[in-house]
Amino acid sequence: MYPVFSGQFLLSDYYSVNMKIFITRSIPHEGITLLREKGFTVTVYNEDKPIPREEFISKAKNADGIISLLTDKIDKEVINKLNRCKIIANYAVGFNNIDFKYAFKKGIVVTNTPDVLTDSTADLAMALILACTRRIVEADKYIRGRKFVGWKPKLLLGIELKEKVIGILGAGRIGEAVAIRAKSFGTKILYFDSKRNARLEKSTSAKKVSLTKLLKESDIISLHLPFNEDTYHTLNKEKLSLLKKSAVLINTARGELVDEKHLIKMLQTKNLLAAGFDVYEGEPVINSELLKLENVVLLPHIGSATKEARGRMSLLAAKNIIAVLSGRKPLTPVY
Ligand code: DGY
Repeated sequence: MYPVFSGQFLLSDYYSVNMKIFITRSIPHEGITLLREKGFTVTVYNEDKPIPREEFISKAKNADGIISLLTDKIDKEVINKLNRCKIIANYAVGFNNIDFKYAFKKGIVVTNTPDVLTDSTADLAMALILACTRRIVEADKYIRGRKFVGWKPKLLLGIELKEKVIGILGAGRIGEAVAIRAKSFGTKILYFDSKRNARLEKSTSAKKVSLTKLLKESDIISLHLPFNEDTYHTLNKEKLSLLKKSAVLINTARGELVDEKHLIKMLQTKNLLAAGFDVYEGEPVINSELLKLENVVLLPHIGSATKEARGRMSLLAAKNIIAVLSGRKPLTPVY
């Protein structure tokens, strides 16, 4: 399925000598250290901002391998300028930033970082669920605004998770990990996915249902679909209108899965109780209307942002590069 390179690199003990790796941003050291130990020449774009496109091209064009971020748009034009590249190791589980089909055609392997960030991302989805249902951010602002004058019977009432229905949209690794966490709070799990997840059904008694049923019956909906041409605006105006007024929507996947403008209208008009966002349509630009809402929790795309996950992502990206450039199969190719 993926290109495997053989020949001089495979048989040589010195395959990494003169091989250049370009990393588009400073990432945790684990993978960089490993690559350097193996003899690769590693260059890192060290600015604390996404690398400008022209600079990316000039730094990457003669690299044998690239570690890219989800903020790097690697389209046909960029791929055509890569003279020596054999592998693009995306430092993320999502890879919608890369035209991976075109890369494949050009003989470039594309890898991502699945599994190693599942628990961290699921923890964050759970944190958003609890933050929205128990109004944690509003409560924090209340204290900081010096409004707390004593216990009140009706102060900041939220909703309890026990017996609530959680709808998991996309029952892959992260969706499953969220369902397992949510189950321990006494919730009932529905899920929608093109494939059945028998393990999830066994561990949480989850039921596979249609998207319509999931949206109509869930109290909390958590998005875990990959973003690609088929999943753009999975929750469009029509689908969003199926949600209960009392529902909470959580998105730790990709902003483009939801018609954000319509979602904002629903939140403004109280046609939805609350929403937790870690990702945005068109991020890093944030719709200013979102900032005015009390019933949202807004995070800066930190799903995998734990020391553990980011260290493992760095190592996995490096291992993919080493495997491919030494003529072996990639560990986690995207296709
Ligand atoms: C990913 O890896 O795709 C996540 O969005 C990072 O948080």
